[in-house]
Amino acid sequence: MSEVDLSVTLAGVRLKNPIVPVSGTFGFGREYGQYFDLERLGGMCVKGLTLHPRNGNPPPRVAETPMGMLNSVGLQNPGVEAFLAQEWPRLRELDTVTIANISGNTPAEYGQMCEMLSAAGVPLIEVNVSCPNVKAGGLAYGTRPDLAAEVTREAKAHAGRTPVMVKLSPNVTDIAGIARAVADAGADAISLINTLRGMRIDTETRRPILRMNTGGLSGPAVLPVALRMVWEVHSAVDLPILGMGGVSDALTAVEMLLAGATAVGMGSAIFADPMAPVKTIQGLEDWCAEHGVSAVRELTGGVRPW
Ligand SMILES: Cc1cc2nc3c(=O)[nH]c(=O)nc-3n(C[C@H](O)[C@H](O)[C@H](O)COP(=O)(O)O)c2cc1C
Repeated sequence: MSEVDLSVTLAGVRLKNPIVPVSGTFGFGREYGQYFDLERLGGMCVKGLTLHPRNGNPPPRVAETPMGMLNSVGLQNPGVEAFLAQEWPRLRELDTVTIANISGNTPAEYGQMCEMLSAAGVPLIEVNVSCPNVKAGGLAYGTRPDLAAEVTREAKAHAGRTPVMVKLSPNVTDIAGIARAVADAGADAISLINTLRGMRIDTETRRPILRMNTGGLSGPAVLPVALRMVWEVHSAVDLPILGMGGVSDALTAVEMLLAGATAVGMGSAIFADPMAPVKTIQGLEDWCAEHGVSAVRELTGGVRPW
């Protein structure tokens, strides 16, 4: 029995520890289940779901960057119905919290998906209003407070008792304003950050490396931006936060908690090391023990600004 209490509560849902692989970097958990026991995770967020299946964008759709990566995958997924039929029955048996991430073309589509996921008993829904890689909806909803609020209201109206977490885009100047809008609209939690829009260019062909020209930047390069935004949102609204963006190990996870996160997402780091989430859980426990922290939740918002 661990002396450190690693459990946290996110939107009323108990996670055994704060570490959660994030949407789009963990598939539906099948592949990573070969590396470690998925039940060691606090939770896992599945690939972004849409009402209908999507093939995503044409390749190349990933590019390396210094300390990070660009992607323009574009929500390739089998659709929410196939998820419920093919993945959810396996996932619901696991002793870890599955978070369903959804993206809609219209507020009504978000509502429809919430209804289906809630009826199936999915414990937590993450509403993505921040995908930079799709033409309709997506990022547009996440960059305007009124639209983000509208999607949140629609999701809440159809999610029954299932809590709704809204995932914010960093591609805005006033992240606190967007957070306040979704909080006022009834969100149960907030997650951030999604990817930052970026671009690379092949100097020989003079063509952008990504077929879509631009994509979303993630990985260690975005950590400082993510920390700043989590801190600003934590200061602006009284909602639990799933903080993500550049977290790669226990120390960066502690930074994310101190900035104001209740739970911590890891994405790109898993591509570099599939064991990163379990190493981070162990490292977090060790760090807490070494620093006399008896419960990891005590760290949330513990930064001491000058
Ligand atoms: C290849 C890839 C695919 C992603 N797909 C999704 C997605 O479907 N839905 C979503 O909300 N975020 C998606 N994201 C964003 C991540 O969930 C996360 O917000 C972002 O990568 C920052 O975390 P990281 O720096 O730990 O990777 C994706 C990221 C990557 C790298």
